[in-house]
Amino acid sequence: MASKNNPKILGIETSCDETAVSVIQAGRILSEQVASQIDIHKKFGGVVPEFASREHLKKLNLLIGSALNEAGLEFTDLDAVAVTSNPGLEGSLLVGLTTARTLSMLLNIDIVEVDHLEAHLFASRFSEVLSPPGIGLVVSGGHTRIVYIKDWGNYKVIGRTRDDAAGEAFDKVAAILGFGYPGGPQIEKAALKGDPRRFKFPVSDLGDSLDFSYSGIKTAVLYKVRYDFNDKLSRQDVYDIAASFQYAALTPLVDNAVRAALKYDTDWIFVGGGVSASRSLRKRLKGKTAGDGVRAFFPDKEHSTDNATMVAVCAEFYLTRNKKVY
Ligand code: KG4
Ligand code: ZN
Repeated sequence: MASKNNPKILGIETSCDETAVSVIQAGRILSEQVASQIDIHKKFGGVVPEFASREHLKKLNLLIGSALNEAGLEFTDLDAVAVTSNPGLEGSLLVGLTTARTLSMLLNIDIVEVDHLEAHLFASRFSEVLSPPGIGLVVSGGHTRIVYIKDWGNYKVIGRTRDDAAGEAFDKVAAILGFGYPGGPQIEKAALKGDPRRFKFPVSDLGDSLDFSYSGIKTAVLYKVRYDFNDKLSRQDVYDIAASFQYAALTPLVDNAVRAALKYDTDWIFVGGGVSASRSLRKRLKGKTAGDGVRAFFPDKEHSTDNATMVAVCAEFYLTRNKKVY
């Protein structure tokens, strides 16, 4: 199938608990739809994989229909379909993949299967303005990873979590403090009223490595609540624990990203994934990089968390890369 100039691309994202669809052309968003499953999963304190796939199945076709409608397009106007193929919940991914493959076959259009973590690096189209090499930090509910971006499409993983992901630690600590799912935004809100210096939660010392470890800090919060407070927390205790945890959990993200930029002699860091929505992370990383000649870039908030525009933009890069000069 020959790729057209400025293809109209339908993006599909169903890797976890957001059913998301987007239509883009030449980097312009023609329409964007997201159906969040938070209300379904929050009663269980986390994502239930079987319910997630069933919800994707219920919502995806409707969202595609309304996204095309909003863009003023018919199915036959599409030139390509882009879909997250990995990593993610197996059943959820299969809903998106099966839909995309069916559309590709019936409409005789290109299909681009996109890596979810790479897609987070394409959120907000910074690939258009940032010239590699650079550092990418992807921090989500399932992954915490630093990549050296030799070129767009050419990455080396230089740091990864050895146990839990940062977002998962936010979600688990939120559950310990009695907040619902997803925990990150609620920890952030509570932390605004708390004292980050009241408690010292441990950050694993992994020496010169750019890796992360989040299981210790999660357990430290659990023990603090259970044994030091006997599970009886005042509202202020909750705020202070949230603030102290948030401070400690963000520290390795900030430190490792900056160390990576200096080690690999790059002058920019791009941060994507749900945790990149954190205002505190944005402020601290921008503050820390200010004196080092390194600049930190973040997606706009709605494209920090899972969305289909980043999937379509990543696919657009691969479909049209021969024309782009970076
Ligand atoms: O990228 P994402 O939407 O989904 C995955 O690919 O996992 O990331 C979701 C994660 C959740 O763990 C959520 O708690 C976290 O991002 N998150 C935050 C914030 N907003 C979302 N973590 C810290 N601070 C936030 N403001
Ligand atoms: Zn994600």
